[in-house]
Amino acid sequence: MDFEIRQATIDDIPEITSLFRNTIININSRDYSDKQIKVWASGADDIEKWEKRINNDYFIVAEANNQIIGFSYLTKGNYLDGLFVHKDYQRKTIASKLLRIMESRASINGFDVLKSDVSITALPFFDSHYYEVEKKQKKSFKGLVFENYIVYRDL
Ligand SMILES: CC(C)(COP(=O)(O)OP(=O)(O)OC[C@H]1O[C@@H](n2cnc3c(N)ncnc32)[C@H](O)[C@@H]1OP(=O)(O)O)[C@@H](O)C(=O)NCCC(=O)NCCS
Repeated sequence: MDFEIRQATIDDIPEITSLFRNTIININSRDYSDKQIKVWASGADDIEKWEKRINNDYFIVAEANNQIIGFSYLTKGNYLDGLFVHKDYQRKTIASKLLRIMESRASINGFDVLKSDVSITALPFFDSHYYEVEKKQKKSFKGLVFENYIVYRDL
């Protein structure tokens, strides 16, 4: 499948947040409760936070036929803070390509490791890209506890 990768702009926020919401509702719902999904998806509504991510982080989108089909953002030089693929474009190597770009970016930034917190849903993906689990953790968001994993890979 053909797609392009480019840096995100503020104008992409509506598409990014709707992808985020729909992917959580349709894909992450395999591994988290209805209550957790509702709260997690509501993160789409915090527009100020998305603006900050686009302005301050290294934020990239994958685009095909003028539609955003995946996105990722890197904070603090080597921390992968988000990686989401459109619900209708799963398993088409979009995340693999976004991840490779973030790994190169972290190297360019002078780091020899890339770290992330990843969902239960995403763990098999990171496993297939040679990430190791540092620990399983419980993270609080809006009063609910979410189980996820801290993973890393030496670059
Ligand atoms: C995890 C996620 C980003 C992967 O995106 P993707 O574009 O579908 O991944 P790719 O197509 O690049 O996958 C490459 C390889 O990873 C592995 N993989 C990906 N998803 C997998 C799954 N659900 N189960 C098992 N292996 C998986 C496979 O080996 C796959 O290769 P294959 O399709 O030839 O078998 C995507 O499923 C997603 O958006 N998940 C929900 C959001 C999320 O939890 N993000 C994590 C950050 S909190």
